Amino acid sequence: MTTRRTLRLATTTYTVDIGPHWPELVAWGPVGVEDGPSPLANHGRVHFITEADAAPVDYAPRGQRPFFGADLVVGRPGEPRESWWELTENKANHQQMRLTYVDKVTGLEAVLIYQVVPATDVLLRHVELTNNGDTPLEVERFGSAGVCLPTRGARLTYLSGQWAQEFQRRTIDLPAGEFRIGSRYGVPGHNYAPWLAVQDQHGEQAWGVSLVWPGSWEIDAEVDPTGMTRVRAGRLPHPGPLVIEAGAMLIAPYAALAYSPDGLDGLARVWHAYERRIRRDRTRRPVLYNSWEATGFAVDAPSQLELAKVAADVGAELFVVDDGWFTGRGDDTGGLGDWTPDEAKFPGGFGKFVDDVRALGLDFGLWVEPEAVSPKSRLYAEHPDWAYRIDGRPQTLIRNQLLLDLGRKDVYEYISAMLDRLLTTYPISYLKWDMNRPATPRGPALSDLDGDYVHHYKLLLIQLRGYKDVLVEACAGGGGRTDLQTIAYSDVVWPSDNTAPLDRLSIQDGFLLAHAPDRMSSWVTDAPGIFDARPRSLRFRFVLAMAGVLGIGADITKWTDAQRAEARALVARYKEIRDVVHNGDVYRLPDAVQYVTPATTVVLAWNTGALPGIPDVPGRPVRLPLQALRPGFYADRESGAPYSSAHLTHVGLPVHWTRDHDADVVVLDHVAT
Ligand code: GLA
Repeated sequence: MTTRRTLRLATTTYTVDIGPHWPELVAWGPVGVEDGPSPLANHGRVHFITEADAAPVDYAPRGQRPFFGADLVVGRPGEPRESWWELTENKANHQQMRLTYVDKVTGLEAVLIYQVVPATDVLLRHVELTNNGDTPLEVERFGSAGVCLPTRGARLTYLSGQWAQEFQRRTIDLPAGEFRIGSRYGVPGHNYAPWLAVQDQHGEQAWGVSLVWPGSWEIDAEVDPTGMTRVRAGRLPHPGPLVIEAGAMLIAPYAALAYSPDGLDGLARVWHAYERRIRRDRTRRPVLYNSWEATGFAVDAPSQLELAKVAADVGAELFVVDDGWFTGRGDDTGGLGDWTPDEAKFPGGFGKFVDDVRALGLDFGLWVEPEAVSPKSRLYAEHPDWAYRIDGRPQTLIRNQLLLDLGRKDVYEYISAMLDRLLTTYPISYLKWDMNRPATPRGPALSDLDGDYVHHYKLLLIQLRGYKDVLVEACAGGGGRTDLQTIAYSDVVWPSDNTAPLDRLSIQDGFLLAHAPDRMSSWVTDAPGIFDARPRSLRFRFVLAMAGVLGIGADITKWTDAQRAEARALVARYKEIRDVVHNGDVYRLPDAVQYVTPATTVVLAWNTGALPGIPDVPGRPVRLPLQALRPGFYADRESGAPYSSAHLTHVGLPVHWTRDHDADVVVLDHVAT
C-alpha cells in the first residue's frame, strides 16, 4: 500500500509516495509539478541491483538499498550493518510528515520527519532513531536526508577553498558517478561549505541542500546509470561510529532543502529569505570598527581610544576590541582560557576603558574564543583534563593552542559562567566568537563527541540571546564555522580573514550564493591582496564592504584627512542604503550586485578588468542590465537622472570607469509613471 502526500511551500510543492519500506519522491518544484506522472518512477526491469537501488527513494538503510547509496548504515556491534524496515505509522498534513519505520530484528525505530518552513521554499528534513532493542547499535552512516532529482546527469555548484580563501564558487558537470564534500574538523571547516546546488546540465532550475549542523558532515551526489541524481546529506560519524544504547535516541540534524526555477541566483534568494525569516526581529547591524588588523596583539587603552575617536568621527557605531585584551595574550602562545582583562594594558581598569569608548557615542564589542585553551594558561594548569587528549599520546598544537572538550558539562559550565561574567560586568553589546583550531585528538572515545560538543555550543549561543541586544559575530579563523545552525543563533558571520579587495570580491560572491547579505560581515582594511595583489582604491574597498554588513578594520589613525572625509561620506551613504542591502532581493550581475525593494534598487559595482581608456581614446561606458524592476521610471538619487525601466533592463545602467574611479554605488528610486 502506497499513500501519496504533497507538502506545500510558499511557491513550491514536494510530493512523496509513502511505501511500505521507503518513501519515494514523486515531484519537487513549482506548485502543480505534482499533477502528472512522476519523472522519477522507474519504468524498467531491474537487473543485478535491487528495486530500491533503482527507485527514487527519500531515505533507506543499507540492506534495502545496498548499491546506490543508503542513508543509514547501522547494526549491532560485531554484526552486519545491514537493516530492513517496515512502515508502522504515517502522519502527514500539508506542512509536515512523520513516517515511522521499524526494523524488527534490531528493534531500531526510525522516524523520518519533513517540515515546511512557513512562507519560504525551504523544507527541513531529519531523522530520529530510537533503539527499542536490548543491544547497543552502532551507526556508521547517519544521513539526515536523501533526495533524488529529475536531472539527466548533474551540474553541481559548491563552495570550496581553504583558510583565507573560503567560499570559492566551483561548478562541475557530473554525467555519471559520485561527488563528495565534507569535513572531519568537528566544525564545518574552510574547505567546503556544507551546501550544494544541483542543476540540470541544460536547465535553469536549481535544487539545493544546506546543513543545519556545526560539526563534521558530508554531502554527496551520485548520478546513477539512468542519469538520475541522488543527493545525501548528514553528519559524518567521526572518528568512529555513533552508538545508540538500548532505550536511547539519536536525533539527526536538519538538512534544509530548497528549490528555485530561476537558477543559482534564484536559489540564493530562497536561502536569503530563509535566513531573514530565522533572524526574526534581530535586524540591527551597526557599522563596526574592529582593531585587529590595526594593532594585532598590541592592544592597550591609549591606542584603542585613538582608533575609537577616528572611528566615531567617520561614522562607525560600534567599536570591537579583538584578540589581545586579556592576561597572558601578548602573542598567540598564551592566555586563552583566562578571560580576565590585562590590567597592564588597561591601567585605569577595563571598565573605565569601555566607558571611555562608549562616551564617544560608540557601542562596545569584544572578541572571545571560548572553546580554546593555551597550554601556558592558568586554566590549563588547573584542568589539563578539560582539553581533548588521549592518554599516552601527544597533544597536537594548532596555532599554539588546544581545544576544550565542550561536550563535558564542567567545561560548558565554565564557559557559560565566563560569558555571563563578561556580559554582566561590562556594557558589551557585541561578541565576536572565534575558534581557531579544529578538534583533535578526539579522546575519550566513549561518547558522541561531536554531538555533545555541538549541543553545548548551541546552548551557549542560546544563552547569549538572553542578554538584551548583544549581537554575535560567528567566526572560526574566518569562515570555518558557517552553517545554518550557527547562523540561526548568531547575527553575522565573518566569512574570511582575507580582507584584500579582489580576493574578498570572490569570497563574497560565493558567500552570497548560500547566505544573506545581512549575515556577511565585511571590513574595509589596508590589506594588500594575498591571491590577487592588484591595488584598488579606498572607494572600491568601501563599496565592497557595503555589499554586506559594513565594518572598518584599517589603521584609520594613519588615514589622511582626505581619506577620512571620503570614508565619512561613504559610511553615510551606506547608512542610507543599509535597509535595502539587508532586506532587498539580491540579483547578481557581472562584477556588480543589485538589491531590489519595491521602492528602491541599489547597485554596487566594481571594475576588476581593464579600463576602457576613456577619455584618452574613444569609448563608451560599461552597461549593467538590471533585473526585477517595476514598470515605469527610476531616478538616480544622486544625479537625479531619470531612466525608464525598459532602458535599465534592456540597455543597462551606465557605469563610467576611469583610473581613479573603480567602484560605484547607484541608488535608483522608483518614481510614479
Ligand atoms: C582569527 C580571526 C581573526 C582574528 C584573529 C585573532 O584568525 O578569524 O579575525 O580575530 O583570530 O587572533
